[in-house]
Amino acid sequence: MQAEILSLKDRILAAIAAAADADALEALRIQYLARSGELPQLLEKLATVPKEDRPVVGRAANETKTAVQSAFEARKTDLAAAAESADFDPTLPGRYEAPGSLHPVLQVRDRAIEIFRRLGFAIADGPDIENEVFNFDALNTPPDHPARNEQDTFYLKEDGLAPSPGLRANTPGGRRLMRTQTSTVQIRAMLATPPPIRIVAPGRCYRRDEIDATHGMSFFQMEGLVVGEGITLGDLKGTLEYFFRALLGQDLKFRFRPHFFPFTEPSFEVDCSRTGTQVRGREWLEICGCGMVDPAVFAQVGYDPGKYTGYAFGFGIERIAIMLHGIPDLRFFTENDVRFLRQFSTRIDA
Ligand code: DAH
Repeated sequence: MQAEILSLKDRILAAIAAAADADALEALRIQYLARSGELPQLLEKLATVPKEDRPVVGRAANETKTAVQSAFEARKTDLAAAAESADFDPTLPGRYEAPGSLHPVLQVRDRAIEIFRRLGFAIADGPDIENEVFNFDALNTPPDHPARNEQDTFYLKEDGLAPSPGLRANTPGGRRLMRTQTSTVQIRAMLATPPPIRIVAPGRCYRRDEIDATHGMSFFQMEGLVVGEGITLGDLKGTLEYFFRALLGQDLKFRFRPHFFPFTEPSFEVDCSRTGTQVRGREWLEICGCGMVDPAVFAQVGYDPGKYTGYAFGFGIERIAIMLHGIPDLRFFTENDVRFLRQFSTRIDA
């Protein structure tokens, strides 16, 4: 019996050592070690061993059980480690996580900020959720102005009530709304500091526009405001021409076209043309609104219109990005298609 046990032990240990993989090892476990396997079957016969032989045979049986069990566990660990390292192929190309980059619209914003900083402008900021007074009234925009229509502007629903002109009286700044223009920051900046002022304010604006190739319901603007003694229209023209040439190219030509904005007088729209470049079949592209700050606006913020003059301007950043890159449709900017965005994965500093 003892010889039988020891010979089975040798066979099992040899088989375990020879097992090529985890499946082969599992087959051996079933064949030899599981409840109806060869080893437990043999050990059941211990009961038939004569009493005087039992200590010796019993010890052989115990040693055999421990030996095969630990050989089995050791082989299992070895095979698992081997399988893992077999999965590693050092000849495969490495995995590359493409680094993210700034959105093309924000790249243009930052480039614009850099140019204005060179001209001594500070960066100002205001909230996207504004009130009606800062967005319209203080900017000399009367209640019957079409931009104040429910159809043109996103008003906030407050206190569970649908927005209505009646709510105005309940809130000091009038109804709250998503700002339609960054011109609101003009008011905030002037209320915060006495003149002189020289700021640009980049930020998001919102309008209830039908979405198409040239309109979105949210877009970026950059506002500018300069107030001081003796500021003239010449300063406005010189600054804007310097800025747009630095951004879009020295060969840029300008047209300052008289226009109307409620908060500037006189007001202009600036058209640009780049030699040999047409955008959507047109040579001249309107890119900026501007003018001399209306004295009525100074009166709103308590600046002395007899002492100070100033100019203001505002332009859409997407529109500049479109000109710069020849992008045919504004919607590319918000669709988040990485095939589009990847084309701008390096900065545009030229
Ligand atoms: N806020 C105007 C708009 O959204 C743009 C603008 C025009 C801003 C004239 C100005 C300005 O500061 O002087 O259409």
